[in-house]
Amino acid sequence: MKIPFLDLGPQWAEIREEAEPLLGGMFAAGRFIGGEQVELFEKEFAAYIGRRFCVALSSGTAAEHFCLRAWGVGPGDEVILPANTFIATSEAVALTGATPVLIDIEPEGVHASVEAAARAITPRTRAIMPVHLFGHCMNLVRWRALADAHGLKLIEDACQAHGSLSGGKRAGTFGHAAAFSFYPGKNLGACGDAGALVTDDEALYDALLMIRNHGASKPFDHQLLGSTERMDAIQAAVLRIKLKRLDDWNDRRRARAAQYVEALAPVEGLWVPRWDDADSPCHHLFVVRHSARDGLARHLAEEGIGTGMHYPVPIHLMPANRWMGLQRGSLPHAEKACETGLSLPMGPHLAAEDCARVAQAVRHFVER
Ligand SMILES: Cc1ncc(COP(=O)(O)O)c(C=O)c1O
Repeated sequence: MKIPFLDLGPQWAEIREEAEPLLGGMFAAGRFIGGEQVELFEKEFAAYIGRRFCVALSSGTAAEHFCLRAWGVGPGDEVILPANTFIATSEAVALTGATPVLIDIEPEGVHASVEAAARAITPRTRAIMPVHLFGHCMNLVRWRALADAHGLKLIEDACQAHGSLSGGKRAGTFGHAAAFSFYPGKNLGACGDAGALVTDDEALYDALLMIRNHGASKPFDHQLLGSTERMDAIQAAVLRIKLKRLDDWNDRRRARAAQYVEALAPVEGLWVPRWDDADSPCHHLFVVRHSARDGLARHLAEEGIGTGMHYPVPIHLMPANRWMGLQRGSLPHAEKACETGLSLPMGPHLAAEDCARVAQAVRHFVER
């Protein structure tokens, strides 16, 4: 039996009974833009994260890009972000015309340190955008203090961290704003592209409501430069149904992550993620690192086990980012993480037996 890297089928099976009549009614009524489902989702997601406001948007990239734009970030400005993230984090900055300033991660870690962020601040810096990568919530208390001390904005990239906590505080509650993605494979995934921005800042909230709708607060009264960046009503309806299950699904991921750690932490030569007891990651991805990563991926494929790479190439070495002028070796820890990281199957419906089989296959390769 094959073990896929990601299988969304069981999620639909779990929500189908509730989703089908609701979606059928929406299709019959022809209600696809705005309306009750979007408004309810915004209220429910803001309450879940613990923020005053949520704006439902077309994607996580849109949330980051338009948040920065609403703050007036643009050409000549700099935004600090880590080098090991999905390209969207730097794309969102570049789309404003500002310059993404990449910082390296800690040698054996997943995230950059607050000291690295502090060193990267210049008179042009306008914002800092840390990423809660793989669903590991960073404790951003010191990052927020750093941003406030320099009059900078802190925007959390929480696109992989729905329901993740550090020190009892949820990802999405540390910064001036936080961006979430609901890409289908996320812990809270739509049935297409969707995203959201959460904040306690009413002025930012009002600006985003307009920007997502061509800069208009009422029909044909276009006050700001905006775009078509609304979340579709059917995505909001699906997300409302899934949000009720998010904590349970995250707990199931936590159980599988604990199982992987127990089986794999003792394996010499294999890097396995670790986290503080005070943290509760939501394990969007479970990434191990090994010097023979490609061989390990091939071995698992031969065993019928799907894997992923997050991310095979760091963003400064992507052809689209050649303009940054950064050479290989300039961000060595992020580069090494990209060369050695392998994402194992992970999800709320990954069976304990399958998880055990994956761990055994990994051990077999590394120890032989
Ligand atoms: C870390 C990170 N940032 C940003 C994004 C962008 O989100 P979206 O794909 O919804 O635009 C993603 C999504 O994959 C992500 O993983």
